[in-house]
Amino acid sequence: MLRKPIQTKLKHYAKNQLSPKRFRHVLRVTHTGNLIARNLGLRKFPVTLACLGHDLAREWETSAYVPFVAARGYVPRTEELEKPLLLHGRVARYLLQEKFGIKDEGVLEAVEHHTLGKAGLGDIGKVLYVADYIEPGRKYVSGSFFRQVVNAETLKDMLSIVMRDAENRHKSLHHLSREMFQYLDGLQDSKK
Ligand SMILES: [Fe+2]
Ligand SMILES: [Fe+2]
Repeated sequence: MLRKPIQTKLKHYAKNQLSPKRFRHVLRVTHTGNLIARNLGLRKFPVTLACLGHDLAREWETSAYVPFVAARGYVPRTEELEKPLLLHGRVARYLLQEKFGIKDEGVLEAVEHHTLGKAGLGDIGKVLYVADYIEPGRKYVSGSFFRQVVNAETLKDMLSIVMRDAENRHKSLHHLSREMFQYLDGLQDSKK
């Protein structure tokens, strides 16, 4: 599928699936993700697809998540059975594959893991995770914090700032988010 049509179709679909408030969040995440991609010299198109698609299933009835993923062969973890909303990223991944024919694994894993992150998440996933956290509609994000993150030199630096802030606000981090952070700490500093 051509770039422009798929992007436009995805945007319309998101608008139809979401409340106006959530759709505006998605647009701000997309804008933020594109800004980060530009600053770091990453390709904008896959970042745009991941950002536009990440919350497609966020407003489904929570009772619909488990049957939907189970029908596709996924066995939810105990935590996901207890909090099915944790599955909204995985459901969105399937929607992007099935309704939009998206095959780019970087885009798909970004959407699947956008809520908690994971160790070894690719660049598109890192950009989405950061953009979802710092989009300017978030109450905890000041203008200076936003600029500090988007102007950081590397994706690793951006994630480090975000992770430290999340840890301070929540007093703890989900173990998957912590593992993503620790994985980064174990890496050599790179441009990304
Ligand atoms: Fe989400
Ligand atoms: Fe989101």
